[in-house]
Amino acid sequence: MLKLGVLASGRGSNFQSIIESTENGCLKGKAEIAVLIVDKEEAFARKRARNHGIAEVWLNPKDSPTKDAYFERIRDELNARAVDLVVLAGFMRIVRKPLIDAFPNRIMNIHPALLPAFPGLHAQQQAVDYGVRVSGCTVHFVDEGMDTGPVIIQSAVPVAPDDTEETLSARILTEEHRIYPEAIRLYAEGRLSVENRKVNIAAARTPQSGFTNPLPGN
Ligand code: GRF
Repeated sequence: MLKLGVLASGRGSNFQSIIESTENGCLKGKAEIAVLIVDKEEAFARKRARNHGIAEVWLNPKDSPTKDAYFERIRDELNARAVDLVVLAGFMRIVRKPLIDAFPNRIMNIHPALLPAFPGLHAQQQAVDYGVRVSGCTVHFVDEGMDTGPVIIQSAVPVAPDDTEETLSARILTEEHRIYPEAIRLYAEGRLSVENRKVNIAAARTPQSGFTNPLPGN
């Protein structure tokens, strides 16, 4: 079973969709959440963890002398819990080298735009202001840049002329909750590989293709 370490800063609705997927959805029997780590004491995601009996830890950035030291702390916590895949779910910090080096192509993030369009904060407002007709969300592996790592899955949604940041965010969020667990599932099934910043998604192994499927439910 793949062990997930989730990092969050706030509301945690993506965290919730991942919890539910492990309990009753596409991640059931394939992945489990080993720990939630938050950088903000008041993060609502902590309550979600407690509601589901998931270990949660607040690591206060102020306790670390440098940003790198903070990410060393996170790395050590994840390693102590034997985490295989790190999942950023609304974690409002740029991940630093100590964590990236410890989990190469083993950190995922979700961004509420079709990258490389509208990286950074307020992606949905950026899309509204720009006047695009289509936006969406992207699950990607994390590198040292801001929202620059290899793209795993994207989903597009229409942008209406009268959309606001709020209405567009809500439409995109529905898709976030759908594709993030799917991306984790592909990882859990060992189907993702990265070459020259491109993510290859291997076909599911089915009995018809001559393989025995070791993973139930496919
Ligand atoms: C989501 O829009 C996600 O794409 C972005 O931060 C937001 C987090 O929302 N990275 P939530 O905490 O998962 O509800």
